[in-house]
Amino acid sequence: APSDPDLVERARAAKEALGDRVFVLGHHYQRDEVIQFADVTGDSFKLARDAAARPEAEFIVFCGVHFMAESADILTGDDQRVILPDLAAGCSMADMATAEQVAEAWDVLTDAGVAGDTVPVSYMNSSADIKAFTGRHGGTICTSSNAKRALTWAFERAGDNGKVLFLPDQHLGRNTAVRELGLTLDDCVVYNPHRPNGGLTVEQLRAAKMILWRGHCSVHGRFSLESVREVRERVPGVNVLVHPECRHEVVAAADHVGSTEHIIATLDAAPEGSRWAVGTELNLVRRLANRYADQGKEIVFLDRTVCFCSTMNRIDLPHLVWSLESLAAGKVINRIEVDRETEHDAKLALERMLALP
Ligand code: 13P
Ligand code: SF4
Repeated sequence: APSDPDLVERARAAKEALGDRVFVLGHHYQRDEVIQFADVTGDSFKLARDAAARPEAEFIVFCGVHFMAESADILTGDDQRVILPDLAAGCSMADMATAEQVAEAWDVLTDAGVAGDTVPVSYMNSSADIKAFTGRHGGTICTSSNAKRALTWAFERAGDNGKVLFLPDQHLGRNTAVRELGLTLDDCVVYNPHRPNGGLTVEQLRAAKMILWRGHCSVHGRFSLESVREVRERVPGVNVLVHPECRHEVVAAADHVGSTEHIIATLDAAPEGSRWAVGTELNLVRRLANRYADQGKEIVFLDRTVCFCSTMNRIDLPHLVWSLESLAAGKVINRIEVDRETEHDAKLALERMLALP
């Protein structure tokens, strides 16, 4: 539905009143009505870098989810304030690894005698606490666009018998290890935080190269092998393009895999008349389908039964208007602020990511 013109006008006026004091970041999964006000759009990696490159902005309004706003707070100056227009915009995957659970897992690895050989790698989609744990234990953060480089770095650092503990998305971890590093599925084990010792024996922990956390994305986890088979039948000649948060069998059956930024670049470069089924969040797929329709590129959603990311969708035009108008009126609302100690350790891990070759 088109945006309410009154709200559009109010957002525009508030943003204009704030001028250079405000910088609005928009993740690709945001609604169209929000994206139209973003100064930059991007994947998680690009947005983290762009947030850090705006020291003059007093307010960073992050149209995305909580872990992204936390990362922006960690990477920006102390006097810059990061605002999340709706505090309920979390991420179910990030919530699947808590600081207590990860500390307990590290004790399990220590008791099994493998912690000394293990380097943690945490997906950007994790809380600041998990990033701080990662920083303290010599690890790095990764996003879907640099996971291969992060894992290569971590295995080099871990040494000959080294392992990686990958948090919290088992699918990105497995897909990257198997597709890009040449590991086998048998090299990977899954640590289940709800079971004693993660549900793993000491032998399994010692034999594993990748210890995957049992987390997943509730949106991407719903695409299935059946979705791929069905779309290939329904749309002859279709190219299947999916995000690496999808399950391993889906990624294995797809033609192309990549982060949101990579998905956009792939469709940009696609020839006229080509047909694509895209397995990622629906706001982005719809926007791309509309953008490329007049170039004769047909873009369909990989599985019509999968829906929006409900937390990304919490950020809507009314919340954005409220945030901008509050800031313009001198009232700081919905500030995301990571405490100093957590910030220090999490920053180590994030800076290792930004320095990856
Ligand atoms: P990217 O934008 O880094 O591909 O991440 C996707 C995602 O799920 C963010 O929540
Ligand atoms: Fe989290 Fe998945 Fe939504 Fe991304 S799409 S914010 S990983 S639940």
